[in-house]
Amino acid sequence: MDLLRFSTAGSVDDGKSTLIGRLLYDSKAIFEDQLEAVEEASAARGDPSVDLALLTDGLRAEREQGITIDVAYRYTATPRRKFIIADTPGHIQYTRNMVTGASTAELAIILVDARKGVLTQSKRHSFIASLLQIPHIVVAVNKMDLVGYSEARYQEIVADYRAFAAKLNVRDIVYIPISALHGDNIVSQSENMPWYHGATLLHHLETVNIGAGRNNVDFRLPIQYVIRANGAADMDFRGFAGQIVSGRIAVGEEVVALPAGIRSRVAGIQRGDESCERAVAGDGVVITLEDEIDISRGDMLVRVRNLPHSSNQIDATLCWMSEEPMKIEGAVAGNFSGQWYWLQQSTRRVRASVQELNYRINVDTMHREDAQTLQLNEIGRGQIVTTEPLFFDSYQINRATGSFILIDPHTNNTVAAGMIRDRARRVSELVQKQEERDRPAVRTARSSNVVWEPVAVTRPMREEQNGHGAAVLWFTGLSGSGKSTVAKALEQRLFALGVRTFSLDGDNVRHGLNSDLGFGAAARTENIRRVAEVARLAFEHGNIVLCTFISPYAADREAARVLAPEGSFWELFVKCDVEICKERDPKGLYERAERGEIPNFTGVSAPYEEPLQPEMVLETDRHSADELAQQIMEALTQAGIVPGGDS
Ligand code: ADX
Repeated sequence: MDLLRFSTAGSVDDGKSTLIGRLLYDSKAIFEDQLEAVEEASAARGDPSVDLALLTDGLRAEREQGITIDVAYRYTATPRRKFIIADTPGHIQYTRNMVTGASTAELAIILVDARKGVLTQSKRHSFIASLLQIPHIVVAVNKMDLVGYSEARYQEIVADYRAFAAKLNVRDIVYIPISALHGDNIVSQSENMPWYHGATLLHHLETVNIGAGRNNVDFRLPIQYVIRANGAADMDFRGFAGQIVSGRIAVGEEVVALPAGIRSRVAGIQRGDESCERAVAGDGVVITLEDEIDISRGDMLVRVRNLPHSSNQIDATLCWMSEEPMKIEGAVAGNFSGQWYWLQQSTRRVRASVQELNYRINVDTMHREDAQTLQLNEIGRGQIVTTEPLFFDSYQINRATGSFILIDPHTNNTVAAGMIRDRARRVSELVQKQEERDRPAVRTARSSNVVWEPVAVTRPMREEQNGHGAAVLWFTGLSGSGKSTVAKALEQRLFALGVRTFSLDGDNVRHGLNSDLGFGAAARTENIRRVAEVARLAFEHGNIVLCTFISPYAADREAARVLAPEGSFWELFVKCDVEICKERDPKGLYERAERGEIPNFTGVSAPYEEPLQPEMVLETDRHSADELAQQIMEALTQAGIVPGGDS
């Protein structure tokens, strides 16, 4: 059965406990504190099948991370769905508790007292929910009985909240007028509010689409522990246990163990007591491999062609949860001098130190403020260095591998929750120092008595002089999909800003550099390989490189991707229905291909492998080239590659 995890935010006054009680009571749920049971069972490890049952409830990883401190989990179920409610006490430590309780929630209920309307606190809760990327929000306007079930009052609150929520990044917000005390619109439609035609709260919870926020693409299995069988019969049985946090895997598929980087194939998958052919995100599994690889707790199994980022410097949003303010301590070449924290990310634990705090976010105004440190409940952005590399995805793409906590090594308390944005940015101190070192050569070049040292001109130096970053924008898509048209519109804009660009196009390159290549699979691979190498050179020279190639094979594009550092290569999927490409047929090639005059024509007689995780999807059958070029400009600005934005 489906499982929905949701959290509730609001203070005692808002009627939160009443609401939860109502939900549990009315849905005739069994109210039980399963956590205790789980705890007891965990103590008796050793029997892997028991452990697996525990793993599937998914709470265990959190519990091991010690971040459930103040959160009570309630379990309930209806015939349609199971629910886990994270109930966080509504006292002043709202930030910490909400972050804790909501870290894995798919939905958050924000309670608003109909008499009081949208208060600062409701805004804070909503902001945190958006920060945590909880896909669904329900604004439950409670105590409608105390405002005479007034539709006007309800609409007023909805309008207020809407105006505020426009600034948030939440995909789905639903408003429901309720009275938790009297049960209006909780389980059954309220007779007191005939003007409300939407779903009741329970109905919404039972039917809201919860697949949306999940990552079913990137296979990630953080290893929780290794099971070695000690029976003489299968001496070399070694199973790797953990919960698949995203993606899927099947027997026979190739995987790679990180950090060792050693490949093998999946020999078997066990889920609970049974062997199975495949497993998906959320499953607790034991995986055996064809080869004997040394893997231990904290390692990660992933797919060979879909690796997470790996770095010991990360750029993160931090929610500070400790009475002790955050300590910022630089690290020198990985040796920490003073204060350090344990950083726990899935099952991996490494030493970490906060290098730099970029800013604090004022949760009330959502503005950025300068700050020396973070205090309890404060949220900010910082750069973190670890002693050993982390394997992660950005939180935006993967909530499981993109989040972490910091633990005080002396008290063992969780002091912060973090969401990884990326690898550490150029703002990081280490890189800044590097840039400072690079700078003098450029600066002194114009004066007459320069002592020329043999220093190579590097990309960072060029980027600084150019006033913009370098990048490779890889447009892929069918012939006639509009790759070149969008790229041209973009290049015009970049050129107008004085940005250095460099264009490589299927048509021009194939007449010169690659005139010896045809359109068979091997020739296309070679075509892309050469072009990617040229793109790399142009990139290293500080350009924004625009590549427009059908590039039908995902593997070829991946090979191109790894030539540039993380974050610098953008795969832009120019998406257009093949029928529309055929209609457009700018060069009359589809027509000829369909007559059989052009062999191996992509979309007609040769395949096109759509990108699974492009940085952007550009739908040319729905938007104009100008609109799309503008979108790319905005993304480039956002990413700090083109000046104008600030993040
Ligand atoms: S790729 O597949 O190797 O990436 P590339 O982008 O360089 O292709 O070249 C595509 C262009 O070559 C098309 O826009 C079209 O004008 C031309 N072309 C000629 N033959 C073919 C073919 N068999 N399939 C696709 N494009 C072809």
